[in-house]
Amino acid sequence: MDFIDKKLLSYVELHTDSESNLLEEINRYTHLHVLKPRMLSGHLQGRILSFISRMIRPKIILEIGTYTGYSAICLLEGIKDGGKLITIDINEEISEKVSSFFKKSKYNKSIEYIIGDAQDIIPRVKQNFDLVFIDADKENYSKYYDIVYPKLSKGGFILVDNVLWSGKILDKKKDTLTKVIDDFNKKIQEDNRVSNLILPVRDGIMMIQKK
Ligand SMILES: C[S@@+](CC[C@H](N)C(=O)[O-])C[C@H]1O[C@@H](n2cnc3c(N)ncnc32)[C@H](O)[C@@H]1O
Repeated sequence: MDFIDKKLLSYVELHTDSESNLLEEINRYTHLHVLKPRMLSGHLQGRILSFISRMIRPKIILEIGTYTGYSAICLLEGIKDGGKLITIDINEEISEKVSSFFKKSKYNKSIEYIIGDAQDIIPRVKQNFDLVFIDADKENYSKYYDIVYPKLSKGGFILVDNVLWSGKILDKKKDTLTKVIDDFNKKIQEDNRVSNLILPVRDGIMMIQKK
């Protein structure tokens, strides 16, 4: 489902910052060589992630779901000097290529790329996070939220991708995964420790701020 008319989307992209050469390369490589390229954030969402990060100026960013590194590099565009982005992905198969993209980035020294299950890794991370991007297995969104929340700085932000699930969130008879995402959205809406907003961009981004 397209939330925005294709022509309008082209207009929006034409009047939005373009991707850097490296992001363009990752985008192209992913579409040519990697399974499920639709998972990549892409031009408009990437610029939104970058803009949000530049407004926050986070010192420590956590990303759950690196994939080919596109969103990681977008988020790094706002990192404070001396800051760090920790990005976790369970898929080792593409890790060499992803590391080679990171090496080409001017943020390379600020990236800690960890291969493994995010649920095992996050509890071992010592730092607190100023910005978190949750973009991995939807079944575990709620668990990720619960393990990340105590490590989120006061006033810190969590962004969660795909919360509108191609519009399936409105289905009367929801399949299992859609139900999981709907339950997650309801959980956030009912959590008075946070302020939240769904940005109806691409597949829907839930923006959460710890009060
Ligand atoms: C939607 S993609 C991430 C896209 C990326 N953030 C971007 O915008 O370019 C989801 C990623 O989550 C990873 N993933 C799935 N389950 C995971 C888990 N338990 N721990 C860590 N990563 C996981 C997948 O391997 C996949 O690369």
